[in-house]
Amino acid sequence: MLKTVVCVSGGGTNLQALIDAIGDGTVKGAQIVRVISSSHSAFALERAEKAGIEAVTVSPSDSPDRKTFEERLDKAVSEVCPDLIVLAGYLVVLPEGFVRKYSNRIINIHPSLIPSFCGKGFYGLKVHEEALKRGVRITGATVHFVDSGTDTGPIILQKAVAVQEGDTPEILQKRVMKEAEHVILPRAVELIAEGRVAVEGRRVTVR
Ligand code: GRF
Repeated sequence: MLKTVVCVSGGGTNLQALIDAIGDGTVKGAQIVRVISSSHSAFALERAEKAGIEAVTVSPSDSPDRKTFEERLDKAVSEVCPDLIVLAGYLVVLPEGFVRKYSNRIINIHPSLIPSFCGKGFYGLKVHEEALKRGVRITGATVHFVDSGTDTGPIILQKAVAVQEGDTPEILQKRVMKEAEHVILPRAVELIAEGRVAVEGRRVTVR
């Protein structure tokens, strides 16, 4: 069983997709051992509680300084010795040492087809606003390993979603979540659990 920690900051629909996929057997090889939220008010915490998963909040604003926050985060993760860390709408930039320590064991879901609409400042609705502004016909979501950059790590899975006439950022965000994010995040976790994902440099092979 792949011991998985899920880090969240907000609504937690991706967390929910993973909980549901484990519940209905779509994901067989993983269990969520802890949810870590960066915010006390994240709805994701309620989702975790409802599913009977231990949830803790490690918030930068509770810590006197960044170093203390990083130590607390590291402790909250290392206590449960995870095989995999899933960033599911986690709005905190991870410390470099942490990323190195868990190299190729941290994955992130991003709501666009990387390398479009990603990098610093591209999170939440902003991603979809920019996609609509640019007039793309196709957008989507990406699951990738986390490296020291922002959205630059090796790509595991991507799924395309069509932009439709009359889309607003909110409508597009919902469609991307439902049709892409909530599908490829659990799928990536299962592929990793089955040992089918190999990383070589920036390239990922799914066997
Ligand atoms: C998702 O769009 C995800 O791709 C991005 O942040 C959002 C989180 O949504 N990284 P939720 O908290 O999973 O509902």
